[in-house]
Amino acid sequence: MYRTHTCGELRINNAGENVTLAGWVQRIRKMGGMSFIDLRDRYGITQLVIDDGASHELNEVAEKLGREYVIQAKGLVAERSSKNSKISTGDIEIKIEAIKVLNSSQTPPFTIEDDTDGGEELRAKYRYIDLRRNPLKKALEIRHKLGQEVRKYLDNIGFMEIETPVLIKSTPEGARDFVVPSRMNLGEFYALPQSPQTFKQLLMVAGYDRYFQIVRCFRDEDLRADRQPEFTQIDCEMSFVEREDVLNTFEGLIKALFVNVLGHEIKEQFPRMSYAHAMKYYGSDKPDIRFGMKICELKSTPSNGINFSGHSEDQVVDLVGGQNFVVFDSAEYVAGICVEGAASYTRKQIDQLTEWVKRPQIGAKGLVYIRVEEQKIKSSVDKFYPAGHLEKIATEMEAKPGDLILILAGDKRKTQEALGTLRIEMGNRLGLRKNDNFAPLWVYDFPLLEWDSETQRFYAMHHPFTAPKPEDMEKFYSNNRDHIAQVAANAYDFVLNGTEIGGGSIRIHDATIQKRMFEVLGFSDQEAESKFGFIINAFKFGAPPHGGIAFGFDRFCALFGGQETIRDYIAFPKNNAGRDVMLDAPSPIDDSQMEELFLKSTLKK
Ligand code: AMO
Repeated sequence: MYRTHTCGELRINNAGENVTLAGWVQRIRKMGGMSFIDLRDRYGITQLVIDDGASHELNEVAEKLGREYVIQAKGLVAERSSKNSKISTGDIEIKIEAIKVLNSSQTPPFTIEDDTDGGEELRAKYRYIDLRRNPLKKALEIRHKLGQEVRKYLDNIGFMEIETPVLIKSTPEGARDFVVPSRMNLGEFYALPQSPQTFKQLLMVAGYDRYFQIVRCFRDEDLRADRQPEFTQIDCEMSFVEREDVLNTFEGLIKALFVNVLGHEIKEQFPRMSYAHAMKYYGSDKPDIRFGMKICELKSTPSNGINFSGHSEDQVVDLVGGQNFVVFDSAEYVAGICVEGAASYTRKQIDQLTEWVKRPQIGAKGLVYIRVEEQKIKSSVDKFYPAGHLEKIATEMEAKPGDLILILAGDKRKTQEALGTLRIEMGNRLGLRKNDNFAPLWVYDFPLLEWDSETQRFYAMHHPFTAPKPEDMEKFYSNNRDHIAQVAANAYDFVLNGTEIGGGSIRIHDATIQKRMFEVLGFSDQEAESKFGFIINAFKFGAPPHGGIAFGFDRFCALFGGQETIRDYIAFPKNNAGRDVMLDAPSPIDDSQMEELFLKSTLKK
């Protein structure tokens, strides 16, 4: 037997027992004639002691030990004279009788501590060493636990886990595919699935009315903190359901995950918000509702033309026109946020903020401020607006003395989004986005389509299998582009603390409507047939009404762990350039492999 106990197991009531432990040498300290070794494994750290009276041989072995050596140690559990309350085994130590070196180790390239001295690139290269550190171990534990709880919960309510293929057909729409050449079918390629979307729908046609899968997905897109080229989804689909059935089922799952993984009970129903409302008040389709600071419109007209408006939220307002301030007069849309208690922002800080909103990622042209003080209002535009007018704006925005109003103007959609980003930034600066509380939210009634002026065509906002809302069917069949743009989708997202964790929809299950969708997306009948014939065909063989959702499993794990980046929740992730620096992948393949596949690179070496 290599070990009788783990390094996290022994307690004071084990005192007097003879034990054998195995693990890695975390640290060695010498004090007088005694040596102390911290022995570590996945479960914890146990202190080993070599007494000054120990044998010559034992001392000789101990002398040679270094960090990360793998050893087996036999000895007697004893109560410690100076206890360490920081670790679970801190009341005891092992008086060592024998040590066997199971393997030596080179000095690791960085310290294996919670706060390590290793840089990101170095740790990525030696990921297997980095994974020995506590924070990563905890992250993978959360992932494991979440996965187990998902399976338990869904199994209990009749969901069946079914695997779908990884080598599939490349289809247009969505992100870029990763492709795999086929040796047996020269000149032809598989694609890796961006999600099992069409398969889960085919499973519904096949009658497996409650499907789920914890499944790897692949997307060749630009990477961010919450995006990896390969990531995992909790992918789900149900038949004979409407939106409410799907939301209620998965709200149950999410609540169970909160209780069973975090011990956090959420009793209330999750709030729900339309996409139009989210854009109007939060400038984002994934609002962080842990704090207010809602957007207040100062000038707006109902959206028209090709922009989806979500009519119910549209209002005509103009609180800023007619004062000869050309920026506001010429803008389609003017709106602001009221930042509580930020009137102390200095001119310099506001100038910095102005530069910040002008960055290309945000794209605002400038920033107007109104500083609300007791008895006094100060603004960058007070030469255009008399104090009374500014006061009216401040009242409209429910500003109190001590608050700072920040206003942007321009094109409606872009300005809403810029304000949304500014709102999140101010939320961060004011410490309103702490990761110790959770604000779940369902967002629904998304636009079905987005017009792309560059390619002069519509794209599906979610994916081409999402059903239009029944009440918008007439517009969906209209020949007028502006009308088509107003069609709402029966789609929904699950948002947690301002991150999109899940997205889904009620699907089209009628072959004619699906064909119309491809037509709206600009596919000829032939193209639709060659790319998506399999699903249009399947719909001719008794497709039940169905809908579903997929959650980003990595994002779920990261949020449960209180982090924004998902990398630490994946055992072997890629870096921001999509590289696995440990494997050094991707990498060129042998000429012989290329030849076998009839591939030739046109890249100059
Ligand atoms: P969607 O594309 O919205 O929907 O993806 C679902 C969820 O997957 C997560 N996600 C990602 N996580 C990490 N890295 C990525 N690159 C990445 N891309 C997406 C997000 C997102 O909410 N088939 C549909 C689902 C459906 O309609 O049922 C789909 O894939 O958390």
